[in-house]
Amino acid sequence: MPGNSFGELFRITTWGESHGGAVGVVIDGCPPRLKLSEALIQRDLDRRKPGQNELTTERAESDAVQILSGVFQGKTLGTPISLLVWNEDARSEDYLGFSRMFRPGHADYTYEQKYGVRNWQGGGRASARETVGRVAAGAIAKLILQKEKISILAYTKSVGRIEAAVNPATVTREAIDKNLVRCPVQAKAREMEKLITTIKAKGDSIGGIVECVIRGCPVGLGEPVFDKLSADLAKACLSIPATKGFEIGDGFASTRLYGSNHNDPFQATRGKITTKTNHAGGILGGISSGQDIILRIAFKPTSTIGLRQQTVTTAGKNTMIEARGRHDPCVLPRAVPVVEAMVAITLSDHLLRYKAQCL
Ligand SMILES: Cc1cc2nc3c(=O)[nH]c(=O)nc-3n(C[C@H](O)[C@H](O)[C@H](O)COP(=O)(O)O)c2cc1C
Repeated sequence: MPGNSFGELFRITTWGESHGGAVGVVIDGCPPRLKLSEALIQRDLDRRKPGQNELTTERAESDAVQILSGVFQGKTLGTPISLLVWNEDARSEDYLGFSRMFRPGHADYTYEQKYGVRNWQGGGRASARETVGRVAAGAIAKLILQKEKISILAYTKSVGRIEAAVNPATVTREAIDKNLVRCPVQAKAREMEKLITTIKAKGDSIGGIVECVIRGCPVGLGEPVFDKLSADLAKACLSIPATKGFEIGDGFASTRLYGSNHNDPFQATRGKITTKTNHAGGILGGISSGQDIILRIAFKPTSTIGLRQQTVTTAGKNTMIEARGRHDPCVLPRAVPVVEAMVAITLSDHLLRYKAQCL
């Protein structure tokens, strides 16, 4: 019921609130003898951390990770790995005015109605600060995948109506990290940056789409019925705050195709079976087909905006709200590493499940 854990054999449990003492994660089921250091996890956390540049929230967190358990002399022990990141720059006074009203687009109303109590400081557990634990765990999941030569790249595909034409088969990490929005098409990235800056100056916010490609995934990951790889990837991605949609392969666009042009013809070349096209996005019957897996995740415009909005107090009175505090005008640049992490966690879990069953 509590829903703070994800995965079966590679299982993560995140903990902590936005303005509490710290945030973190416990990872259970990680294989032993993997080379692991804080520096390796930090690389991914630095891509997620706030205050990176003018397109992200000004909250200044070093997000320095500490390994508390599960690692000895630079190697995983096979025991639970506990990771911790202290909260350093929480300014709870920014949220005092919101303790007795519901911020539109936020979890304030639903938490209060459900639990009758909520940590109103920085959004508490609903805050994207919770994703620190996911990204830290994702760095470890990627180590497991690397052993099998499975790689994951996520990037910003669109911001508002500005969309980049990206070839998922050839996109590189270098091109993605060359700009602040993490869009691999540099000219489009500049347009996106300009749009976010303009929207921010107006006190407003904007959303977009993150695309993710998984290369080198073998045939066979995913279970046939409830734990389809597609279903678990959807759950993993839709559990990220601010997500509103999920697609695999042609996704919703496949509804406009005929079977004759949507089916991916099989072909055998020197004993290796592939498909000529990849409308399915690398998953058939919930099981990876060996083709690239391609996902898209829709992120809404950031809920906190600097404009006056109508709302209601906790006592049920109509009122107006004007946000203060530090916020991402667009969550996309920081959501990219979170998507990569959740995809890595899902795949490493299914890889271990595959190995446990298919000898
Ligand atoms: C990386 C990332 C950063 C975010 N930063 C902010 C932010 O600065 N301000 C904000 O209002 N929401 C931000 N969000 C989204 C909120 O956490 C989220 O919209 C809110 O908790 C309500 O949940 P829901 O949108 O999933 O329904 C961020 C989300 C992500 C993934």
